[in-house]
Amino acid sequence: MSAALRNEPYRHFDARPLSPTIGAELIGIDLADPPAEAVAEVKRALLDHKVVFFRDQAITRAQHIAFARHFGELEIHPATPKDQLDREVLRIEHGPDSKGRENAWHSDVTWRAEPSLGSILRAIEVPPVGGDTLFVDMVAAYENLSPEMRRFVCGLTAVHDIARVFADPLGKTAEDLRATYPLQEHPVVRTHPETGRNLLYVNTAFTSHIVGLSKKESDWLLAHLYEQAAIPEYQCRFRWAPGSIAFWDNRACQHYAASDYYPARRVMERVTIAGDRPFYRA
Ligand code: SIN
Repeated sequence: MSAALRNEPYRHFDARPLSPTIGAELIGIDLADPPAEAVAEVKRALLDHKVVFFRDQAITRAQHIAFARHFGELEIHPATPKDQLDREVLRIEHGPDSKGRENAWHSDVTWRAEPSLGSILRAIEVPPVGGDTLFVDMVAAYENLSPEMRRFVCGLTAVHDIARVFADPLGKTAEDLRATYPLQEHPVVRTHPETGRNLLYVNTAFTSHIVGLSKKESDWLLAHLYEQAAIPEYQCRFRWAPGSIAFWDNRACQHYAASDYYPARRVMERVTIAGDRPFYRA
């Protein structure tokens, strides 16, 4: 398993872990206008726990954006309507006319050359039951591979393709979409730029194949690596309520939104923080 959490106390909130290696609820902080020291502690908690959760946050869209800006530049997602005010917000809305589609293990926007650092998701409307989001610790997923498998995968590179998910919803052909967002190659094992930990960095949504392997070999190996995300010991699960917020580190974990609430409505707003180019360091 991953090394133990640092367990240094926080001054601005209490952290209640959801599992030994991933997820903690941060209790006693108001995200409306947190002081710089509290923001720095949230960042530390994010690195310690990979995803952090907040409850009962009565914040506005503008405050959501302002909170995210503390952690870096914000991205605009191609699925955000061009005429939307606050284009940094990706609204994820499902109900009787649209079934949830975010039910595949993934890290956000790995089809970018510099995929996102993290995402901050705010619950606007939640179903009476269901619609939880699951998170998986990709450091644990890597560290629990056999030593030989770790040695093999850490030299590999994989291709990530936006068209696998967004060609249909955006009404574009794969070729058109790739003209704007070209295929990207990222290391199969990524080194976290802040913690230095190595982790598995392929995902079912956007990864198409591993460079240099035959299709059969690539499909087999990816299937084996994807299976690691399904291991409950590496996961935590978050039950939403209005005003709940999740802030996850896309460089350390993956997530999966359970699509079990149809035809109930579930409305979320996501603000995504830009990241840097993935690398592997032995
Ligand atoms: C996402 O995949 O970014 C959204 C997750 C969710 O709606 O819970």
